Amino acid sequence: MTDLGVAGTGATGTEQTGTGATGTPPDSGTAMQRVTVWDGATRLFHWSLVFLVGFSWLSVEKGWIALHLYSGCAIGALLIFRIAWGFVGSETSRFSHFLGSPFDAVRHLLHLTKREPDEQVGHNAAGGWMVLVMMALLVAQVITGLAANNDVDFDGPLAQLVGKDLSDVLTNLHFRLFRLIQLAVVAHIVAILAYLGLKRHNLVRPMLLGHKLLPLDTAAPRIAQPVLAWAIFLIAALFMGWVALGL
Ligand code: HEM
Ligand code: HEM
Repeated sequence: MTDLGVAGTGATGTEQTGTGATGTPPDSGTAMQRVTVWDGATRLFHWSLVFLVGFSWLSVEKGWIALHLYSGCAIGALLIFRIAWGFVGSETSRFSHFLGSPFDAVRHLLHLTKREPDEQVGHNAAGGWMVLVMMALLVAQVITGLAANNDVDFDGPLAQLVGKDLSDVLTNLHFRLFRLIQLAVVAHIVAILAYLGLKRHNLVRPMLLGHKLLPLDTAAPRIAQPVLAWAIFLIAALFMGWVALGL
């Protein structure tokens, strides 16, 4: 298990480095500090999500429908956790921090080809909306999955509740939504590659390690208590476990 970020509210995990440090200093004479921009909980959420979306796809292709149900419910638990974390979690994970005006998002995209130092703390104005779209699609995928059926030997835990006709409609929606998820993931990866290619900003490293080099005067974001993340995740997992076992 990875460490879940820097403990304690207001803890920032900053560390000063000289000009010779790796990274892209805004100008050659700027002293840099190492700042924790993504807490461990958000990183663990992200990479578990990547694994489980892949596994959900694989499991349905292989006809492992029970595993598909469990993997879908695990995604459900992750999403419940992440939505709650978007309100009470670390500063950079909060919706209020990364969802701004759509005009800012467009303005940000217009500067995509401009080379400039990477001073971003958290999601940028456009990325924040992309994250919201991906999360909304995944929530819809989980809900429709729960009410889906495979016409042979499997009914999702909510399928009986909604009745066969509606379950068939939702199964169809479940298939179609997955195409949108695939599109969104491709756009997500293309955007990350565009930041690397056009701006020379490596967004993947901070999502893996949690920190990045930023100018010394950058205010480090507040990092929430890891124990809070675990408590929320435990409640979300218990809830989805109950749903997976048929309510
Ligand atoms: C199934 C595939 C994927 C899904 C569903 C997905 C979803 C997401 C979500 C929901 C976030 C927001 C994280 C948060 O705030 O909690 C995110 C951010 C991010 N993802 Fe992915 N992701 C996928 C694949 C990948 C892959 C393959 C990479 C690496 C090449 C990647 C790199 C990143 C990075 C770097 C960020 C942070 C972007 C930023 O700095 O604003 N993702 N992703
Ligand atoms: C929450 C629990 C979930 C349940 C109970 C569920 C259930 C189902 C069922 C019954 C099918 C039809 C299988 C068939 O006809 O053979 C299906 C298909 C599928 N599901 Fe799920 N699902 C869930 C979550 C998810 C999630 C989270 C994803 C991906 C993010 C996903 C991706 C897929 C895919 C890719 C297909 C096949 C689509 C196609 O063949 O076009 N499911 N699911």
